Amino acid sequence: MFCMPFVQTTKLTHIYFKGTPLETVALKDIDLEIPEGEFFALVGASGSGKSTLVQHFNGLLQPTSGRVSVFGDDISTRINRNSLWSKVGLVFQFPERQIFSSSVYEDIAFGPRNLGLDENEVKHRVETALKDVGLPAGILQIDPATLSGGISRRVAIAGILAMQTPALVLDEPGAGLDPQAKKQILLALKRLQLEKGTTIVLITHFLEDVVDFAGLVAVLKKGELIASGRPKQVLAQPELLLGAGLEPPFPVAFTRKLSSKGVRLNSSPVTIDDLARAIQRTYQNTGPGDR
Ligand SMILES: Nc1ncnc2c1ncn2[C@@H]1O[C@H](COP(=O)(O)OP(=O)(O)OP(=O)(O)O)[C@@H](O)[C@H]1O
Ligand SMILES: [Mg+2]
Repeated sequence: MFCMPFVQTTKLTHIYFKGTPLETVALKDIDLEIPEGEFFALVGASGSGKSTLVQHFNGLLQPTSGRVSVFGDDISTRINRNSLWSKVGLVFQFPERQIFSSSVYEDIAFGPRNLGLDENEVKHRVETALKDVGLPAGILQIDPATLSGGISRRVAIAGILAMQTPALVLDEPGAGLDPQAKKQILLALKRLQLEKGTTIVLITHFLEDVVDFAGLVAVLKKGELIASGRPKQVLAQPELLLGAGLEPPFPVAFTRKLSSKGVRLNSSPVTIDDLARAIQRTYQNTGPGDR
């Protein structure tokens, strides 16, 4: 069976305020393909165009030029966006700003209800999504306005998870969360990918998360796509990352430092485990006294 990519962009360019003194070229000639069922990470410095790019994946923005197709449909020609929104859930960069309901339950239930589901199914989805983001059922009757920033972010993410869309796009869902809460959400996303085949697109500043969770990664720099591929290949290139304004993962920075002191490892480790193995192998082969 032919499998449609989730997203395919061809020479996608996005210019804000075109033709005015405020003109900003946010994306330039982006050619990108995100396979269906992939866990895809998007990284880049602040202002590199990440949020702009993903808003094209569910029709929130229109290309200035170029094309975007989502699950095979050219979205620039699409008139009914509702069907797109039932396929692609987007968690915005600051989702907690979009909470308006009177209780946490109502907030998470909003999306599934809009899909026309019966209330039993809505309730089931609310409870499942709440578990996925690691919140207790006791929170459901609380007024969201009284919640802390981290908790309301998790509520907002649960609201999108409850839609159970075939694709989920999350714009820095972990920003401002404690490491444990962030990991819990990433694990829930990974589970959705592996168990339900959900396509996940994750914007993150944490390159360690990319290595741990993503199958593919793309790097944006000032609106241009400068690299894409497997995390262990892309993230093993410290110059590329530094040039894009990103901090290389610790093992990569450490290997670079060693190299600047004349100590060369036999491989380019990206994870702590790989780093330990690389050091072990290098020293087993030559012995520390030989260098
Ligand atoms: N609504 C907007 N109107 C005008 N310019 C915008 C708008 N949104 C973003 N921009 C500009 O477009 C460029 C890309 O911004 P974007 O928000 O996509 O970057 P980003 O990679 O998501 O950054 P961050 O990591 O800070 O979230 C920046 O120069 C930004 O100032
Ligand atoms: Mg952004």
